[in-house]
Amino acid sequence: MNKLAIEGGTPIFGTRKLMELIPPWPPRYPETEEKLLEIYRGGKWSGCGPWEQKLMTEFAAFQGAKYSSWMANGTVTLQCALLALGVGPGDEVIVPGVSWIATAEAPLYAGATPVIVDIDPENCCIDPEKIEEAITPRTKAIIPVHIFSAVADMKKIMAIAKKHKLYVVEDCAHAHGAAQGGRKAGTFGQAGSFSFQLSKLMTAGEGGCCITDDEALHERIFRACHIGNSRIHPGTRPEEGFICHQFRFTEFQAAIIYDQMLHAKELHERRKKAMALLAGLLSDTPGIRQQSSGAPGDDRAYYFPAFLLETKALKKGVTRAMIFDALKAEGVLFHEGWGAPLYASTMWNVPQKAYVKHPTPNCDDVMYNRLMVTHNAVLLTNDDIISKVAEALDKVMRHYAK
Ligand SMILES: Cc1ncc(COP(=O)(O)O)c(C=O)c1O
Repeated sequence: MNKLAIEGGTPIFGTRKLMELIPPWPPRYPETEEKLLEIYRGGKWSGCGPWEQKLMTEFAAFQGAKYSSWMANGTVTLQCALLALGVGPGDEVIVPGVSWIATAEAPLYAGATPVIVDIDPENCCIDPEKIEEAITPRTKAIIPVHIFSAVADMKKIMAIAKKHKLYVVEDCAHAHGAAQGGRKAGTFGQAGSFSFQLSKLMTAGEGGCCITDDEALHERIFRACHIGNSRIHPGTRPEEGFICHQFRFTEFQAAIIYDQMLHAKELHERRKKAMALLAGLLSDTPGIRQQSSGAPGDDRAYYFPAFLLETKALKKGVTRAMIFDALKAEGVLFHEGWGAPLYASTMWNVPQKAYVKHPTPNCDDVMYNRLMVTHNAVLLTNDDIISKVAEALDKVMRHYAK
C-alpha cells in the first residue's frame, strides 16, 4: 500500500489534479480591472498620482509604519534606503548569505562593500552572533532578511545595532503582513524594504516600497528615487552630493497593490491555517524539519515555507534529487527555489575584492537541502487536499529515512 509511485505504487495525486486545485497566482479582482481602465482613460499614469498617494499612507499603516515611498522594485528600495542613510564608499554592510542576490548587490550599488555572513540553520535568517563577529570600524549597516516564512530575530539584531551604532534596513521582500512580538516586519530598523515582483505575496508584476517612521529619512528616500524631488519641501534641492535616481512607480501598479492590500489579511489567514495543518501532520515525519521563525509566536507570512532535509537521518546515498523525483511521482510538487546561496548564484559575478565573505556552512546546508512550497499552494482551503500533500511527503520520507 505504501509502495512509492516512482517504484510502481499508486500515486497519492495525479499531478494535474493537484495543480488544478492550487489557486492561480497572481490574484485578479474585478474592482481592480475597473480602476485600471479608469487610470488608462484618465491619462495620469505616473508621477505620484492619487492611487500612489493613497498607498503611501495606507500601506504604511497596513505595515505598522508612518511613511512609505514607492519605486520600481525591491532592489532599488534597498539601494535608496542605504543612500538615504548616508551609506556609501568605504562603508561595509552586513548581509546574510541566504537571500536573493539583490540584498548583497544593493550595498554595491550604493558604493559600499557587502559583508556576507552565515545564517541560523533553524530560522534560515541572519545569525546575530555572526553579525557581531563581522563588525569592523567600517561597518555602517545591517540588512537582515525575513526569509521564506520567518521573521529574523529582531530583538537580538536591534540590540547589536544599538550597541555598535549601526543602521538596520530590513529586507521584507518575503514578509508582507508579518510581525514579531506584535510589531510588524520593517518597523524595527530605520527602514523596511518590500518587493512587489510577480512571485511576491503582494504584486504588481514589479514594484517596491520603503517604509519608515522617520520623517526626515522618508524625505531622503523619496528624493533618492524621484531624481531629487521632494514631497515635503517641493521645489527645494537635495543636499549637495546626494545623487538621486529615477526609480518611479506607476498608477497602474499602485491600483493593483491597493486592492491586494484590502484582501491581504484574508489570504494571510488562509496561508497560516493551511500551514498549521501541514506542519502538524508532518511533525513526526522522519528526515525533515520545518523552518522556524526568529521568535516563538511570530505572525509569519508564508511566502515560500521551507522544509529542510536532515541529511544525517537519510539512508546512505539518498539525495534531494531522488526525493524530488519521488514526490513528483506522487503528484506533489515541491520546489528547489533558488538552488544556491547568493554568493553561489550564477548571477553573482562580483569580483572577490569588492565583497567580504565569512564562512557560511549553514547557508550551504540550508540551500542544498531545502524543499520549498509555493505560497499559492498554501492558499488551499480544502483540508483533505492538504492532508494528502502531507501524506505524500510523509510516505516518501519514511521510505528514504533511516
Ligand atoms: C529577499 C529579497 N530581497 C530583495 C529582492 C529584490 O526584489 P525585486 O525583484 O523586486 O528587485 C527579492 C526578490 O526576489 C528578494 O527575494
